Amino acid sequence: MSRLLLVSNRLPVTVKVEKDNVSVVRSAGGLATGLSRPHERSGGVWIGWPGDVSRLSDSQRAQVESRLADLRCVPLYLSASEVSRYYEGYSNRVLWPLCHYMLDRIPRQDRDWEVYRKVNERFADLTARQYRPGDTIWVHDYQLMLVPAMLRQRLPEARIGYFHHIPFPSSEIFSTLPHRHDLLKGLLGADLIGFHTVSYVRHFSGSLLRHLGPDTDIDRVIWEGREVRVGAFPMGIDATAFESLANDAVVLDEVATLRRRAEGQRILLGIDRLDYTKGIPRRLLAVQRVLEREPSWRGRLRFIQVAVPSRTQVEAYATYRETVDELVGRINGTYGSVHNVPVHYLYRSFNERQLVGLYRAADVMLVTPVRDGMNLVAKEFCAARPDEDGVLVLSEFAGAAAEMSSALIVNAFDVEAVADAIEQALEMAEDERRTRMRALRAQVKEHDVHWWTGSFLDRLNGLPAASERKTGSAPQALERMKAAARLHLLLDYDGTLVGFAPRPELAAPDDALRALLARLVARPETSLSIVSGRPRETLEAWFGALPAGLHAEHGLWSRARPDQPWRMLEGVSFEWKERVRPALDAFSSRVPGSFVEEKTASLAWHYRMVDPEFGAIQARELRLHLAEVFAGESLDILPGDRVVEVRPRGVHKGRVVGEATQGLPPGTLVVAIGDDKTDEDLFAAMPGDGLTIHAGNKPTRAAFRVNGPAEVRKLLGELVTP
Ligand code: UDP
Ligand code: G6P
Repeated sequence: MSRLLLVSNRLPVTVKVEKDNVSVVRSAGGLATGLSRPHERSGGVWIGWPGDVSRLSDSQRAQVESRLADLRCVPLYLSASEVSRYYEGYSNRVLWPLCHYMLDRIPRQDRDWEVYRKVNERFADLTARQYRPGDTIWVHDYQLMLVPAMLRQRLPEARIGYFHHIPFPSSEIFSTLPHRHDLLKGLLGADLIGFHTVSYVRHFSGSLLRHLGPDTDIDRVIWEGREVRVGAFPMGIDATAFESLANDAVVLDEVATLRRRAEGQRILLGIDRLDYTKGIPRRLLAVQRVLEREPSWRGRLRFIQVAVPSRTQVEAYATYRETVDELVGRINGTYGSVHNVPVHYLYRSFNERQLVGLYRAADVMLVTPVRDGMNLVAKEFCAARPDEDGVLVLSEFAGAAAEMSSALIVNAFDVEAVADAIEQALEMAEDERRTRMRALRAQVKEHDVHWWTGSFLDRLNGLPAASERKTGSAPQALERMKAAARLHLLLDYDGTLVGFAPRPELAAPDDALRALLARLVARPETSLSIVSGRPRETLEAWFGALPAGLHAEHGLWSRARPDQPWRMLEGVSFEWKERVRPALDAFSSRVPGSFVEEKTASLAWHYRMVDPEFGAIQARELRLHLAEVFAGESLDILPGDRVVEVRPRGVHKGRVVGEATQGLPPGTLVVAIGDDKTDEDLFAAMPGDGLTIHAGNKPTRAAFRVNGPAEVRKLLGELVTP
């Protein structure tokens, strides 16, 4: 039976040792709380760390293991050094602050990487051991970014998803990581990579483009011959469970008690792990501002702030705690009385029932992180309000703000604005409170955690299985070529025989390439054509003496042998060029580093020297612009590798196939190798028994795939190696 294997650093339960007493308690944090119920429903297993078990006796350990087994949890134990270097170290001193845009909280970007990598290997090994064919693997969060690729290596056919529960920062921030390439490659081992919001998806795609090269086509990236999908899947909560708890008699009793204790007062509530991303100090300052500027609120506000101890061994958390402690003390010292203090600060964790009691008792919920991937507390608050009352003040820097527009959305860095929002919330009329809460609840209930898991897993499981996605590899192509009685090679030049250079004229053939081509044409029963988008003058200058067919400008110009003249396709018009040229010139003056190349029958706008993200956006813009302005014309607008080319319809590389293969003896295997969109025309026109090879990682109709010019040369080299 196919199962769901959840893989995350932390299991949904954590082992707690107090004196001789051992128990497993529910883990805090959005990942563990959010995924618990989907796990209960799925019947699969959850692989992760159960917390520190070093002090357990053998019998206690056995007791814990049997409890975990009942919960279908497979423990991965971390040694003390792994906890300090993989978990507290790279995960929480580097990746956590980085993804939350807090570079100044990172002591050193390059520390503890090795241990992070090794622990990721351990997770991949354990998961691979648990895997049965047909299972779906779902890896979670920044602690395990290398695991998808490690699993892909171990289980090439497996269906693997990854979800990033925290923000994915802009590529400018991500670029500061020395191991940025490894981390991106790690994620690309998955079939589907999910984020909470479209901005995180955009940031991730930007980093891929900048650091690894591939452009994301809507939701698809081609990497190492595989299609990887990316998408936004905003995580939800188990709204029904929160709602029914909120109607539970014991909880309602607790709510009544809380309200009685706060008689004559309004309750403000904050619930967070004690984490420097949560914006607790600024929130406290905002409450202080309200008391400072509106004396009428003094004595009438009760701000309950729950701060759950978290990552206490990491210095940044310890200093943050001191800051919060100090502020609480200062505010209570200033605005408290012998009867009452404004801030009720609770440094401990609560169970779900207790939390719901607090949610339901509050007048105003303050969720004001300075950066947060999603923030489930905001959603839990709404689900716990079947009375349709209570006001949510929500930071625009929480992923949840993208969905919860009926909250009072604030800039959490602006203390004065948060103070304004608190007052607005306190003074809001009942009607408006209800209207807003109704809208928020509808959103939270509809897009709950089951919707979230369903939409992620449906997308993942709906992708074609690995076995259906395969293109043939280089050794398989070579075998067929070697077995053929006679060969004719149709070779693209740029991106296929040579890599990209900053300007087209710099990509001249090197000596090794010249020698390789010479040996190929000298190979018995072998002939060759170069089919390029380059001008004929360039091909003539580079390959004029080569006994091979030359086809320039995508087949507009052809020359069969060195002693024969160049001939041009008939009936091609050029008059459109003078109308299109100004549009391309306008883009090249607007985008520094880009330039226009003019050929006989085409115009090309090159942007290979432009910042990759900006270049890709401008290229899309240019294509749209040209398609709109020249809609009625018989022109093709072609996206290429860092180039947009405009040429008359009907001039394409496919036109070359007939001419180049004319008169070849029967039994000749025709082989086409190319890397770019224009080569797809070549592949499309190939004879049915021909062999097509895509050199790169784009979507292709070719039957085989190799990885860029180096592999093409290796493949061709092996043809002429005895
Ligand atoms: N939580 C908890 N005990 C507490 C306080 C909070 O279990 O004492 C839970 C809370 O119900 C929520 C999660 O911890 O489900 C916090 O998730 P959120 O997405 O808000 O933030 P994260 O901690 O993941 O950064
Ligand atoms: C956030 C992270 C989770 C993590 C949780 C609690 O929600 O996205 O991956 O589990 O915080 O943090 P902890 O370090 O205690 O697991």
